[in-house]
Amino acid sequence: QIFNFRKSNRVVVKSSNGSHPPVKRSDFPPDFAFGVGTSAPQSEGAAKLDGKGTSIWDLYIKEHPEWIKDGSKMDVACDCYHRYKEDIAMMKYMGVTAYRFSIAWTRILPITLQTLLSYEVSQSFELLDGSLKAGINQQGIDHYNNVLKELELNGIEPYVTLFHFDLPQALEDKYGGILSIDFVKDFRDYCDVCFKEFGEKVKHWVTINEAPIVAENSYCVGLSPPRRCSPWKGCKVGDSGKEPYIVLHHMILAHAVVAKLYKEKYKDTQGGEVGISLVGIWCPPYSDSPEDLAAAERIRDFRMGWCLEPFFYGHYPISMKNLVKDRLPTFSDHEKRMVMGSLDFISINYYSSNYAKGLPLIITEPYSWDTDSCVQRTQENARGEFIGPLQDLNSPFRTYPEGLRQLLVHLTHRYDSPKLYISENGTGRTDENTKEFLQGKLNDEYRIQFILDHLDAVKRAREEGADVVGFFVWSLLDDFEFDLGCSYRFGLMFTDFDDNQRRIPKRSMEWYHSFLTVDE
Ligand code: NOJ
Repeated sequence: QIFNFRKSNRVVVKSSNGSHPPVKRSDFPPDFAFGVGTSAPQSEGAAKLDGKGTSIWDLYIKEHPEWIKDGSKMDVACDCYHRYKEDIAMMKYMGVTAYRFSIAWTRILPITLQTLLSYEVSQSFELLDGSLKAGINQQGIDHYNNVLKELELNGIEPYVTLFHFDLPQALEDKYGGILSIDFVKDFRDYCDVCFKEFGEKVKHWVTINEAPIVAENSYCVGLSPPRRCSPWKGCKVGDSGKEPYIVLHHMILAHAVVAKLYKEKYKDTQGGEVGISLVGIWCPPYSDSPEDLAAAERIRDFRMGWCLEPFFYGHYPISMKNLVKDRLPTFSDHEKRMVMGSLDFISINYYSSNYAKGLPLIITEPYSWDTDSCVQRTQENARGEFIGPLQDLNSPFRTYPEGLRQLLVHLTHRYDSPKLYISENGTGRTDENTKEFLQGKLNDEYRIQFILDHLDAVKRAREEGADVVGFFVWSLLDDFEFDLGCSYRFGLMFTDFDDNQRRIPKRSMEWYHSFLTVDE
């Protein structure tokens, strides 16, 4: 099927604006990692199989199916749990050298040991070391070892995310999940198991996916469990003026503790690297008025600096301190030392941008969330004068590859030339959800152009000194897009959710194959 497809769908690639030649594989060094990505909750399925425990997403969907736009479920998702060999064969065909996927915490520690043993007994991991085995799900370990073996056989390097939104529900029940500092220690225990079991094969670890988005979606705007947001968003619980800041603070500490553990216990023998991922936001000023320039800086601080400044400077951005005041946590000297320098790389997921427009900061309630006032309302008020074309009528995403170049150059200057990956880039569509799309031979030329234009931005950023060493298309296949369900499609392969999760290559998959293997 793949080869027939290949002959009939030769893809001709062109530059989008005609001003420079189309970007080519050979514009990047031979060891540049080209890959595709998925995550466990979005693609694995087998949600109740082989001893897997319940994550906050599992329960959320079960209790509130109405919160998922098209009512789809995660139980089967793309069934990658069973079809990983087929998927890896497709990756091999495409010519990718890297696969980014995530491990489901609840597959490794299903109920989580922490709920079984009294927490007081388990104050130190050393004490637990022997008995931790009791909580480990061997079937989960075997599954990921099988995936890793298959990748190795096919010459594909694993890039593994340890936490991609799917917190064990047991930790939420026990102490309120990430809102509690106890999260840090439990995350460390779980990562320790992963390093020990998989570290011989895995050399690239991302601790937490899009940490600031967890803070925002789960503790401010009410799009994700545990949906603790303000009453003005229709939720009754939570204190969205404080909680996002506490939660991100805990995630930064959790990253640092895990990176320290890796350095002390595994680095010498395993020789890998540990980083964090965050969504790349770059909002240029709408005009050069002082208000718009200040808004652009504020957005940069709230969106990127919030997570990154502590790792490089040991504290949150000054503008955040001024606006958030004592709701913003601080790091002790000991924590500062641990956090600073704990990133081996920064992993950026880049999709969209917008203009920054300076508006009076209207704090409508005592604890309205400042990022929201700075960004969301800014965007709403700038409607009609957005930065680029809409990617899909049902999504607010705008296409602006130049924002990626500017962001990468900014990160390079601001954070002393860090090692960078583009861990996600791609475009999601609801209009592929139709028979016409299938009958039209899954012609997603817009996706090809989108990825090419962003690759071109990466190429230009590299020429300006950005140390970008890898690029991962999101996603290998259409998957479960959280609150948007399965009809919002990002894949290089079409997943037929009505026909046993059958995979059908889209034209973009064929293009990626040509890009990677037939460099003309
Ligand atoms: C980033 C998230 O990491 C991923 O889970 C999601 O599917 C994509 N954004 C697209 O929205």
